[in-house]
Amino acid sequence: MLGLVGLLLCACGSSSGEEPAKRWLLTLDDPLPERLSEVGLYQNVAARAVYADVVAYVPNHPLYSNGLDKERHLYLPEGTAVQVDGAQAWTFPVGAVLAKTFVYEGAAVETRLLLRTPDGWDYGLYQWLPDASDAEVVPGNWVEVPVELGGGELTHTLPSRLDCRTCHETHEAVADSPVIGISSLQTGADLIDAEVFSEPPNTTAVQGRTDKETVALSYFVGNCIACHNGGESINSAFSLYPEDAVTNTVDQPTESETGEGIRVVPGNPDQSVLYITVVEAGTPGYRGPFKAMPPLGADVIDPDASGVLGDWIENL
Ligand code: HEC
Ligand code: HEC
Repeated sequence: MLGLVGLLLCACGSSSGEEPAKRWLLTLDDPLPERLSEVGLYQNVAARAVYADVVAYVPNHPLYSNGLDKERHLYLPEGTAVQVDGAQAWTFPVGAVLAKTFVYEGAAVETRLLLRTPDGWDYGLYQWLPDASDAEVVPGNWVEVPVELGGGELTHTLPSRLDCRTCHETHEAVADSPVIGISSLQTGADLIDAEVFSEPPNTTAVQGRTDKETVALSYFVGNCIACHNGGESINSAFSLYPEDAVTNTVDQPTESETGEGIRVVPGNPDQSVLYITVVEAGTPGYRGPFKAMPPLGADVIDPDASGVLGDWIENL
């Protein structure tokens, strides 16, 4: 039964000679395993220690999620690479597995997977057991988990599979791939040094006219451009890519169905709809017409947002 898979595993190094665990990701047998340990990212799942052929990385501009930590990993089948052809469309080989684990003060809560199967991309979601010994597959509905953060308790919401599509497929429609955090804007030295690309990729540093603008544009890259990419698909909206964000926001009226205003009023954050949607609209006391941004994935408003966006707008 172990056959070739078992032999390959022995080659990548179990020291004690005990029977190696089966790694689902080496074959992508349908369906996803019940337990995250069986997926084959972690050699020791309780310690969250990955196999040697799994690469850890951090995007240049991470998405804020309730102030928690995230661990990101990329697995590529042996002998494959992310094909770099042109600036944007990087192609992931069949068998690629990307994982993002959400960690509150050392305790893992959920692990999300993006899988490149022979039929296209698929999603996976695992919820960690209370004792953090392993995680169980979540079939698809919303799950709310109480977590500890900064001395208080908070409800962390695991998204549904449909939610994955809201951000990842909006992005796919413009970038040909649902992978958001590995791109010319997001890729740093960790992945380049790990030689996951077919050739050294072009990377693009975010550059505003001032330092404060650079910080604000970087914030949009991490938190907004999954949807705000100017695409045609449902949930796409006006582009907040670095080259478009100033033109599309400063002195520009909203196109919102819910309320009218100016996206960015130079010198005046409180009159700027963009600032209101990110900093104020998610608070319980907000009575205005605008939806909180981002509309998904944030149970807690980013405490840095008011500084980052406020400083930029005040100094325009
Ligand atoms: C609110 C938007 C949003 C939703 C909803 C969302 N993601 Fe993501 N996801 C992102 C962004 C932005 C990144 C890249 C930045 C980062 O990792 O901080 C990302 C990164 C990832 C990564 C790492 C690979 C990559 O694309 O960069 C995986 C894996 C992932 N998400 C899986 C999922 C799955 C599975 C779901 C649904 C259960 C989901 N995501 C829902 C926005 C979202
Ligand atoms: C999950 C997708 C998604 C993400 C992520 C997201 N938005 Fe939005 N945003 C939308 C959609 C869809 C609308 C249109 C809804 C409406 O009618 O107001 C919108 C509306 C807006 C509006 C008001 C409408 C307008 O025309 O100006 C602003 C401002 C805005 N977003 C800013 C942001 C900022 C800044 C971020 C990042 C911090 C962000 N959004 C993240 C999907 C998203």
